[in-house]
Amino acid sequence: MVIIRNLSCDRSESPEILLNPMANLDLIIAGEVNLDLILYGLAENIPLDREILATNFELTLGSSSAILAHNISLLGVSAGFITRAGDDELGRIAMERLRESRVDLSQAIRSATGTKTGVTILLHHGGSRRILTYPGVMFEMTCADLDLDYLGSARHFHLSSLFLQRGLHAGLPELFRNLKQRGLTLSLDTNDDPDDRWDGVLDDLLPYIDVLLPNEDEIRRIARRDTVEAALDALSPRIPLIVVKCGSRGAIVQQGATRITVPSVSVVLVDTIGAGDTFNAGFLAAWLRGADIAVSARAGNITGALSTLRSGGTEAFRDASLRRAFLRQHQFPFPEAEPQS
Ligand SMILES: Nc1ncnc2c1ncn2[C@@H]1O[C@H](COP(=O)(O)OP(=O)(O)O)[C@@H](O)[C@H]1O
Ligand SMILES: [Mg+2]
Repeated sequence: MVIIRNLSCDRSESPEILLNPMANLDLIIAGEVNLDLILYGLAENIPLDREILATNFELTLGSSSAILAHNISLLGVSAGFITRAGDDELGRIAMERLRESRVDLSQAIRSATGTKTGVTILLHHGGSRRILTYPGVMFEMTCADLDLDYLGSARHFHLSSLFLQRGLHAGLPELFRNLKQRGLTLSLDTNDDPDDRWDGVLDDLLPYIDVLLPNEDEIRRIARRDTVEAALDALSPRIPLIVVKCGSRGAIVQQGATRITVPSVSVVLVDTIGAGDTFNAGFLAAWLRGADIAVSARAGNITGALSTLRSGGTEAFRDASLRRAFLRQHQFPFPEAEPQS
């Protein structure tokens, strides 16, 4: 099926801007968009009131939801992204990057005049890093921004960064129930809870989730268990498919009583920013095309590894020749999915 994408018309709080929702997408993601400002080569101890020099700097499209939308679209999945960007230069850069990936932005909203897009400043100190985020309009999106007919026209709905989507929380259980009734499958990557509470709306959403995509730390906290194995034992009766991302060790997948481990792809990496979100892109791209859990996890490991080869979560995917060569080299299961540019 050929899908004609509307690349140019974002929604805006200015009423004169066109709405042009498109139908029949494989996947819609609703979530935050921000930019990452990444500085490399800093000492761990940064003295106050001194000028400190980094060895390198990159500005990349950041945020879990936007990275997934960007990268899965470049894997040839027809994806829509509903988000709020601020009315500023950072918002314009972020939306331009997304547009280049061909994601459908017909339901993306530019917030009111003078609002600011979120930004994350990442300070790399050798193996560890500091992550400082200004959320901007990130908390402003509510379920009133989500058009049910648009969402219902897709096969699958994904939510990332649950604990950053504060404005959505009140409406989410009803929204998830509604989408399930319309026949969509649902996936969730909570990412971290900055308050480390792991409660609130999460428990109400789990009964609707088809695919949960945590990392090892997150699943232990969600299930309130000490080990990944105990957490999987606790959650698997409630969630049909759980995919645990284990960094350089790959992924563990639990589907019913079946539990498999799928090893990672070995790489010499630049950074792991967005690796989990890009794993989600590869996993969902394969799973939505009907691949089994082993093939889907392998696909996630390939795309997760690819994302580590360049700065941030999207630069490796923006480099079309690197992306194509890496996917081919590791036999990404759907080579025909490459978009025709
Ligand atoms: N050092 C690495 N080498 C190879 N693959 C990696 C590496 N780090 C991450 N990945 C890939 O990215 C996926 C997600 O990384 P992880 O750090 O577990 O998630 P998150 O970013 O959500 O914390 C892993 O499951 C793996 O496929
Ligand atoms: Mg993650």
